[in-house]
Amino acid sequence: MEARRVDVLVLGAGAAGLICAIEAGRRGRSVLVIDHADKPAEKIRISGGGRCNFTNLGCTPKNFLSQNPHFAVSALKRFTQHDFIQRVDARGIAWHEKTLGQLFCDGSARQIIDMLLDDLSEAGGELMLATEPGAITRTADGFKVGDIACASLVVATGGKSIPKMGASGVAYDIAAQFGVGVIEPRPALVPFIFTDPLLAPIAELAGVSVEARVAAGGAAFVEGLLFTHRGLSGPSILQASSYWREGDEVAIDLAHGRDAFAELRLARAERPKLTLPNALAALMPKRLADQIAARSFGEARLADLSDARLREIAAAINDWRVMPAGTEGWRTAEVTLGGVDTNALSSRTMEAKAQAGLYFIGECVDVTGWLGGYNFQWAWSSGWAAGQVC
Ligand code: FDA
Repeated sequence: MEARRVDVLVLGAGAAGLICAIEAGRRGRSVLVIDHADKPAEKIRISGGGRCNFTNLGCTPKNFLSQNPHFAVSALKRFTQHDFIQRVDARGIAWHEKTLGQLFCDGSARQIIDMLLDDLSEAGGELMLATEPGAITRTADGFKVGDIACASLVVATGGKSIPKMGASGVAYDIAAQFGVGVIEPRPALVPFIFTDPLLAPIAELAGVSVEARVAAGGAAFVEGLLFTHRGLSGPSILQASSYWREGDEVAIDLAHGRDAFAELRLARAERPKLTLPNALAALMPKRLADQIAARSFGEARLADLSDARLREIAAAINDWRVMPAGTEGWRTAEVTLGGVDTNALSSRTMEAKAQAGLYFIGECVDVTGWLGGYNFQWAWSSGWAAGQVC
């Protein structure tokens, strides 16, 4: 029997794969999207707490990590956050900016998925779910995947984060099969875990959150920090985790924007009888204040604490140094750092330089965004770029 033949075969019905398939279909290419999951775009569905933080108003190439920081510039410039917002507006999906330029649907992430699926269908694209792509071989005029032949093969199977949502890491195997390099994938945007003796006082504060400045690996982020039973989480920690390496110290300012030493000194001058826990409670949540006080000088009154003592206490607040034992790993990482080596790809088209017709897009590529809608924007931009030519 003659093999089925399409112009473009896209592996992976996530954000990147769907937008690429839509663009290729609009150009009149016959397009088939294959996904091994029962449902398309599961990560869009669960993203942003069910409301999908679909892009970021302030998206620039500076918001991405890659061994090759210039790689993302072209795609991000050619299909910008404003281009995606235009599609969302044209579809009548209401959205709002939550914080720091992060745009969320007012309703549900499902609206973004429905928009993409409708656009795919209008563009004549076909979607095959619950289908394992077969073995991939090179042919004289393209590729064969199982018994489907195609001229262009687009790999949009994402990274390794959250295996239970369908992540497989297969993109790296395909890259290796075709001699395309892979930068070691690592879990990113992921909580830190600790072991005792550091864990006990952190776990005791589980549920407490503060606005903090968290610095690791030369980057620093000011956002929420959350104490958990296993360690530290919250946006500032997730952001820093992408820059952190095993054995690195993390520097945390638990009262960002406030000079704890100056404030404690002033409080001592104005209210010498004030106890340390009560003085600290003016700087941070009470449970955290109580613990820091208990660790240092308990119920001491400010009048009894020297400048040197106040400096020690202030350092524990403005410059708390911790050494994570590790991260929660792939189970909870929002994204994958590393992936298909961008040096092997065209930054304009995402096509493998040494393998005509083979494209890699989205999270499987070594371009990783910050938290805040940047990762979807990379999926849209890289998928769109490949969709113009594949
Ligand atoms: P994606 O992973 O979305 O899609 C890959 C597809 O390939 C999946 O459908 C999968 O089933 C399929 N697949 C995998 N292996 C296969 C195989 N062997 N055969 C066939 N199919 C295969 N980002 C953001 O910008 N804003 C946000 O709000 C969030 N929120 C968020 C929450 C959570 C909990 C997570 C885990 C992640 C986010 N992200 C995010 C990150 C974002 O979800 C991610 O960057 C994009 O989904 C990446 O899009 P891709 O299309 O590249 O991969």
